[in-house]
Amino acid sequence: MATLPTLTPITSPWMHELMGEMNVLNQLIDKFGSPINIHQTDAMEENYNSYHRAFEELDLKHKIFFARKANKTKCVVQKAQALGMGIDTASLQEYMQCLEMGISPEDLIVTAAVKNKLLVEKVVENGSLLIIDNEDECELVQQVASERNTKAKIGFRIGGFFLKERKLYSRFGFDLLEIDKFITTNLIESDRFNHLEYKGLHFHLNGYSIEHRCFALNQCLSFSQVLARKGLKTEFIDIGGGILMNYLKHETEWDYFNQQLRKAVSGKVRPITFENQGLGLESLAGVLHGELKTYPFWSPVTKGDFLRKILTYKNNSQETLAELANELGIEIRMEPGRSMLDQVGLTVAKVAFRKQDSEGDWLVGLEMNMTQMLSGSADFLLDPFVLYQEKEEENNPVEVFFTGAYCLERDVLLKRKIPLKSLPQIGDLVVFVNTAGYMMHFFESSAHLFPLATNLTWNRTTENGKIELAHFQNDENL
Ligand SMILES: Cc1ncc(COP(=O)(O)O)c(C=O)c1O
Repeated sequence: MATLPTLTPITSPWMHELMGEMNVLNQLIDKFGSPINIHQTDAMEENYNSYHRAFEELDLKHKIFFARKANKTKCVVQKAQALGMGIDTASLQEYMQCLEMGISPEDLIVTAAVKNKLLVEKVVENGSLLIIDNEDECELVQQVASERNTKAKIGFRIGGFFLKERKLYSRFGFDLLEIDKFITTNLIESDRFNHLEYKGLHFHLNGYSIEHRCFALNQCLSFSQVLARKGLKTEFIDIGGGILMNYLKHETEWDYFNQQLRKAVSGKVRPITFENQGLGLESLAGVLHGELKTYPFWSPVTKGDFLRKILTYKNNSQETLAELANELGIEIRMEPGRSMLDQVGLTVAKVAFRKQDSEGDWLVGLEMNMTQMLSGSADFLLDPFVLYQEKEEENNPVEVFFTGAYCLERDVLLKRKIPLKSLPQIGDLVVFVNTAGYMMHFFESSAHLFPLATNLTWNRTTENGKIELAHFQNDENL
């Protein structure tokens, strides 16, 4: 029998320190219920520096906004603020909470996909920057700003960039082919939107392609020159998020997993996923179709190096995009979310039961549900850690699926079958690492009236080296 692929996650010392303290984790689960999300924000500094260094090396005027949509806690916003970052907000609630936390309106931008009147009113009154998506939004902002006899700071979100002959689709933003006419007609040649103060351009591309971002930035820089000739100064171009991070330790494991999944879906080896799900691949009449539709959990180029590749891309005039931005006096902005949260969080859940299903597969039921650790892509491909309450005498390897508490056949927490050294006992703990970026919060729901998981922040103190309950703070109380 082929061995099941393992996917060893990159971890940090703080995670292992914590996992070595079963007593503390048991007490936290007793106190707050299962699952709990634990945050330790130190790693955000290095994540931020990775970007900051790339900008500094290129001597580029820049501003980095933390996209807080990736995690709803206040502790990560506080840390981002302490690092000198701005905050990208996506709703009235995110925006207002940032203000209440004392963040200056100048450090806030609003990229919300839908902006209701109350949000626009608050943003205009406070003088933060709004990223505008469409003409209706322009009208709303114009109305709100004119009622207050003020100007609203805005940037235009652009989509529909050209990748050689191909146009990149996005449901967001103004089409690149339309925006020139729109701005010329409504902001330059007429007073229709005279309460909008144009500051810059913005894009956030779907997917994680460096090439797409190079083309999009280049096309925005070109468009800024068109606007400059018409007397409109572009102060910034914001390249959004979608910068890759690396979750896995070994490229070899990633390659083996990819090979084995293809073989399993083709029926050449036994299934390695629940119901032999292909995670984007499928076999039709013996032919394999599709592609893996998960986040690229292993990537060769990430964070600052990913950004550097964009900024040092040479356009047709053999000028790098950084050089061109500098020449035009344009600040480059970005909004990393996920990659800012690399190594910042983990999710701990308690084992409720074990059983064998009608196929003979072991199911380990956890006190959590699928929405409490859910990827926007086909699966979260990291091996979890099992913390056994009792030291196992013998080594009894077993392969399991972890199942959740929603009454859905598909509430299987990881689609992969996971090899373990022995079957967990009731009350053992399962730890999913690196879940702070989107995994814990983005899709969480309260079906069956289950409460949402408690979010804790761990103030790791080195005072006496001991980890105590008092060092964990409920994010609600921050
Ligand atoms: C406008 C905008 N900015 C920033 C981000 C953050 O992207 P990421 O978490 O991939 O860095 C997103 C994510 O969807 C977004 O829509």
